[in-house]
Amino acid sequence: MGGLQGRRVVLGVSGGIAAYKAVEVCRRLIDAGAYVMPVMTEGATRFLGPPTLSALASEPVRTSLWESPEPIPHTRLGQSADVVIVAPATARVIGCYANGISDDLLTATLLATRAPVIVCPAMHTEMWEQPAVQLNLDLLRARGVTVVDPGVGRLAGGDVGTGRMAEPADIVDAVANALGPQDLDGLTVLVTAGGTREPIDPVRFVGNRSSGKQGHALAAEASARGANVVLVTTANRPVPGDVETVLVETAADMEEAVLSRAASADVVLMAAAVADFRPKAAASEKIKKADGVPEIVLEPTTDILAELGRRRRSGQTLVGFAAETGDVREYASSKLRAKGLDLVVANDVSAPDAGFEHDTNRVLVLGPDGFEIEGSLMDKRAVARLVLDAVIDRRRSEGEQAK
Ligand code: CTP
Repeated sequence: MGGLQGRRVVLGVSGGIAAYKAVEVCRRLIDAGAYVMPVMTEGATRFLGPPTLSALASEPVRTSLWESPEPIPHTRLGQSADVVIVAPATARVIGCYANGISDDLLTATLLATRAPVIVCPAMHTEMWEQPAVQLNLDLLRARGVTVVDPGVGRLAGGDVGTGRMAEPADIVDAVANALGPQDLDGLTVLVTAGGTREPIDPVRFVGNRSSGKQGHALAAEASARGANVVLVTTANRPVPGDVETVLVETAADMEEAVLSRAASADVVLMAAAVADFRPKAAASEKIKKADGVPEIVLEPTTDILAELGRRRRSGQTLVGFAAETGDVREYASSKLRAKGLDLVVANDVSAPDAGFEHDTNRVLVLGPDGFEIEGSLMDKRAVARLVLDAVIDRRRSEGEQAK
């Protein structure tokens, strides 16, 4: 359980008979070296005395947004957590979380975190089978939340059926999985994200539809897996605190930022949509309508990835991205060869639910020698996991070949 050592875990406990099992979850997390921050709902305190959990956890139980010495406990908890678990998760907490409602400290913490979240439902069979509850769980799964399904067994009141919370050992395994292995520990990963903007004049630019979401998810995932991450991005969107971020705008800025940092990177993930062409000369003053329709002459930009391929040092893993609107496999494999890449991550950006601006993506990862992974439609963080798994795979097999 090396992955849990020193990791900060918010353990949320909501009101169900399974609350007593949260004690065992807490003890196992502590034994695995985690720092556990317990939060109980009011309902949970009817089933389990807060002092019990306080005695076992790394800090005292919090039960309220208002009775804490700190003014905003939910943001501190949410921001500092490496992972948030809710065990047991009642239908109410699941419903609030799925619908963005915060009505107590636990639900506010769930909304105030960007860490992976694991919910462990526990409820009576009738409630578990309720379409509203299942729909809420589907919503959460689609957003990348891990749901540890309940098992069949004895429920409160002597009934037997589905709804019994998963066993503490399985829950702790799910936490370790969600935190991911620290398999990038000690590696420097350079990630690019977003679409570049090439100025036409001080107010207009040639741009593209890349949102930066996939690149930022890659940076967050690499960081969670222990890498030193440098993110060169055009997108002003959130990144974890320990990622070094360089904000750029044009392809030339990105080229400078990437090439000056690439030599020290073990892995380069070129997820940015870099413009292939830019206006040859950007007007220094705004182009006026009265002057007629301007003719914008374009010139090529440097292909940063191809340049990285030329400069690549031994042991460096180079990953390119290919946004295509058809013939994905053919175009992607020709990019792989032409730029001398270890991996190419391709997607069909014309698909209705994948690519630019969406929260989900469906990718095809190709490597030389027939390496191939075809992902299903998944959350961009899950795509990041898949891509980094492929990077680790490639690095291991190269290491073995070098022996
Ligand atoms: N890329 C780059 N520098 C550029 C253009 C693209 O580093 N000036 C990188 C992108 O970050 C991405 C990959 O190259 O990883 C995309 O390959 P590319 O051949 O540029 O794709 P397209 O521009 O879509 O090419 P095509 O017009 O052939 O589809």
